[in-house]
Amino acid sequence: MDYFRIQGGRRLNGRISVEGAKNAALPLMAASLLTTGRVKLTNVGPLADIKNLGSLLERLGVAIHFGDDDTITLHTSDESCVETPYEIVKTMRASICVLGPMLARRGRAVISMPGGCAFGTRPIDLHLKGLAKLGAKIEMDGGNIIATCDRLKGATIFLGGPNGPTVLGTANVMSAATLAEGRTVIESAACEPEIVDLANMLNRMGAKIRGAGSPRIIIDGVEALGGCEHRVMPDRIVAGTYAIAAAMTNGDVTIDDFPYDSLLAAVNHLEEVGVHVTKVNPNDEDARCSVRISSNRVLRPTIITTQPHPGFPTDLQAQFMALLSIADGNSIITEKIYTERFLHVAELSRMGAQVYRQGSTAVISGVRHLHGAPVMASDLRASACLVLAALAAEGETTISRVYHLDRGYSGMERVLTSLGADIERCKETKAEPAEDAVPAMLPSIRGAGLTSRAAQEPLAKTEGN
Ligand code: EPZ
Repeated sequence: MDYFRIQGGRRLNGRISVEGAKNAALPLMAASLLTTGRVKLTNVGPLADIKNLGSLLERLGVAIHFGDDDTITLHTSDESCVETPYEIVKTMRASICVLGPMLARRGRAVISMPGGCAFGTRPIDLHLKGLAKLGAKIEMDGGNIIATCDRLKGATIFLGGPNGPTVLGTANVMSAATLAEGRTVIESAACEPEIVDLANMLNRMGAKIRGAGSPRIIIDGVEALGGCEHRVMPDRIVAGTYAIAAAMTNGDVTIDDFPYDSLLAAVNHLEEVGVHVTKVNPNDEDARCSVRISSNRVLRPTIITTQPHPGFPTDLQAQFMALLSIADGNSIITEKIYTERFLHVAELSRMGAQVYRQGSTAVISGVRHLHGAPVMASDLRASACLVLAALAAEGETTISRVYHLDRGYSGMERVLTSLGADIERCKETKAEPAEDAVPAMLPSIRGAGLTSRAAQEPLAKTEGN
């Protein structure tokens, strides 16, 4: 397995551009199941999760061609298979996004129940509720979901859950409703930009969707959809991650294709702590947005609560915690989407961060300097947090299990090296414990906000993206 070796303390300077959004590309790829027309996606990063979903779609009869210029062409040629292979679904819970499109087009879908992940149970009850409302029959058998239907029928569906809307649940129901008979209204739909991107592509395929990006989406079903070409929106989480990297190293970085309007909550907090996010081409409405990131030498604390879009995104919580760990004062982060999404706390603490966690809230007492240490990645965004901390820390940090990072960041070490970071990807030599070995659960010492590293090791095999 690969690990990163990072020498901290380098100021990042230079210019980069943001890759296509993983969390937009996955449901966009799944939407190719809705047609036998050719779907061409551009601006798709060569990410592990994208390749994983590609393998799953090939098993479902979709011919896939990965172009060398960040394009993917998908063309369904065989619609006879309706079973998804467990060995793929168990490693990527986002595979669930094929359920709605496959059901709507093929009338049957068998998919293994995705497990939990490193930071929570990750239920799909709202997905199933929405599809059942459209007339699907949902059964469980040996850990598999078996969904069947004749032609789906439009319905009015309240899709809100205890932690707010569901992003992939909205994608599943919206996609399925495009081929349903009649009108579907999704109330309490997810408003994430990735849902808007999906609706835009579906409409390009011939769907009739209105209201995407608002809590109420209206879909008038059509008989069939055709192929199309679509450019995947830039990844707002990747963009936010690199903006934080620039700020933490007191650097000066220009980021092209920065999805500014999709990141207003994060930009608001960046500016609150003393990071300057300046539009480089404010008057050129047609050009893609570029921003210049710079920051005060001393950062200020802030209070963050993660919320559904347009609130502060949970996917930037860990990265922002790294930033606040070197701010001048006490900050508070409350995680409202995944209350257990704090696996990065124990590893950050090993680097000298002062973080006290109580339930879904963490208090971060800023320190003047973090120090390098051997740390271990546990999930995608926790890994990004550790990279950011290592860039700012004094001394050397090694981060093991960076395969987590490869799921959502294309060649992060190359991007950071281009900005002047001292980072290298190394090959693990010694034998690693088998990935699915279940570590002995050591008691965690929650009172002091500290937990043993072994207790942090995620038990679930399924990844949480
Ligand atoms: C998407 O996951 C993203 N993944 C996640 O990004 C992101 O953190 C999440 O949305 C929230 O923004 C992809 O798009 C591939 P949800 P998703 O359904 O759709 C609860 C990353 O790092 N819920 O919006 O699976 C759920 O427990 C990943 O890139 C139900 O209760 O998340 C959570 O508390 C991590 N029942 C909340 O809703 C359901 O049926 C939001 O979950 C579904 C969800």
